[in-house]
Amino acid sequence: MMLTAVAMLALTSLVRADDELPIPADDYVYCTVCHGIQLMGNPIIRAPRLSGMDSWYVENQLRAFKKGWRGKHEMDLIGMEMQPMAAALTDEQIREVSAFVAATRSDAPPDTIDGDADKGKTHYSSCAACHGVRGEGNIALGSPALTGLNDWYLVTQIRNFRDGTRGSHAGDTYGMQMRASARLLPDDDAIQDVVTYISTLQDQ
Ligand code: HEC
Ligand code: HEC
Repeated sequence: MMLTAVAMLALTSLVRADDELPIPADDYVYCTVCHGIQLMGNPIIRAPRLSGMDSWYVENQLRAFKKGWRGKHEMDLIGMEMQPMAAALTDEQIREVSAFVAATRSDAPPDTIDGDADKGKTHYSSCAACHGVRGEGNIALGSPALTGLNDWYLVTQIRNFRDGTRGSHAGDTYGMQMRASARLLPDDDAIQDVVTYISTLQDQ
């Protein structure tokens, strides 16, 4: 209960009642330089939409970047853009900025991947155990919601897990679990298909 009250306080200080959209907290405006207004995402530099993302997952990822579990692999050139941003944050700032991320709002991301949603649905049956039937995520399993993310970003991350660019660090238990699942998808077509299916979940 304490935590919830503290989180609510943090949020109200970031969201002004007279604004339809929460304004960026001054300290973290620089996140929007790459991730876009209201963290709506910027495909040109491959910085994903973060608007409304669960704060616990944002915290997990900022810590993963900071520890070098993400964004340090020699093949992970895109992750390397983000890694120093997280490395510069204190634990307190990580909590604060994660509440800011959770409070941002933007339109659902546009579809850019054109796979076979029916085939994707079949593949998704192996994902639902951790990410939920509607892609809503599961905090107890450390599995993020998959809705509201850019489809191109989902493709990149599933490939990263499959190829060991993400999730192969010895301390990264959650990443390693996901890595095992990504390797069950037989090829790039299967990745496109499952992502096309995931995109249909956010419309439901
Ligand atoms: C220099 C550009 C840049 C800045 C500034 C930046 N990011 Fe990022 N961020 C990226 C890129 C690029 C990625 C995608 C990395 C990848 O593909 O693995 C990313 C990924 C992330 C992720 C992972 C999302 C996920 O779904 O796993 C989080 C969380 C994140 N950024 C939060 C932030 C926050 C909070 C700030 C401000 C403190 C910030 N970023 C500032 C470029 C940036
Ligand atoms: C055993 C549980 C488990 C299964 C099954 C699983 N995942 Fe995951 N997945 C995770 C966890 C845990 C993470 C978070 C990893 C981390 O913290 O870096 C994750 C992360 C992801 C991400 C990264 C999201 C982001 O914001 O960066 C994607 C994409 C993803 N999973 C897709 C899938 C797909 C598609 C399937 C089915 C083929 C699947 N997952 C099956 C546990 C699982």
